[in-house]
Amino acid sequence: MKDAGRQVPNRMLWSMFLCLTRARIAMSYPPWGSVANPIERESISPATAPLKLIHDDLHDENIMLGGLSHSDLEHRLAPILKPLDFGKAAQNPGADIDSAVKRNIQDIGKIMTTLVMRVYAPWAEQDVVVNVRDAQGLAVPLKVYTHPRLDEVSHISTDLKDLIFRCQSVDAQERPSLEELLQLCGNAVNNSVAQDYRGIPGYSSFWETDEAIRDLEQRVLLDADTVPATGRRRSLPGPQPATVSPNT
Ligand SMILES: *[C@@H]1O[C@H](CO)[C@@H](O)[C@H](O)[C@H]1NC(C)=O
Repeated sequence: MKDAGRQVPNRMLWSMFLCLTRARIAMSYPPWGSVANPIERESISPATAPLKLIHDDLHDENIMLGGLSHSDLEHRLAPILKPLDFGKAAQNPGADIDSAVKRNIQDIGKIMTTLVMRVYAPWAEQDVVVNVRDAQGLAVPLKVYTHPRLDEVSHISTDLKDLIFRCQSVDAQERPSLEELLQLCGNAVNNSVAQDYRGIPGYSSFWETDEAIRDLEQRVLLDADTVPATGRRRSLPGPQPATVSPNT
């Protein structure tokens, strides 16, 4: 892939984190849109009990990239991520509500890890003990089930890494709530600027500018190389490319 050596910038990661959080909010609090009442932004309805819906098969091949929208604050710097393939999705009747939501939050952490590590699923997760900071900023050990080398990644901010780790906490009670994810990711998307990433050793905050991010998206997403489909996909006759005659 072109630019295969480039890391995914923090500001793009925050935007994708927020988008995945909204997708999970939609599973817990379906917006029930209609033609007369179109869906705008998935939000938490405090007065409604969340559904116990889990996807149960979320990985990088089950996410499609939607469009970029330069006029939308939440998708200025990163495309919409659309989870698909709900074949295993279930209302988890045995589970309590909290564990269904916490399970979905663990999935968010796993996808974020895939994006940070730029690894293609399936990758082996392991229990590892990492330090995350508590509300007072003190380092506390946390047992997480994640990529064994996520902790070595140096180009992402501590805030971002801590939140990704917490989503993958082995103890589900230590995972953040949807409310907290919405608050932290929304705040980062609304307010973070390239200069916030100046202090990261060995990393240039130039990669966090709008210009650098747009350039990366152009090269990696919009001008992407195409590869033949592999895996267990059904082979349906697809549309054939139009034959272009040199005379027309
Ligand atoms: C981010 O900005 C939007 C639009 O102004 C606002 O609705 C949202 O509440 C903000 N999010 C946070 C976490 O501040």
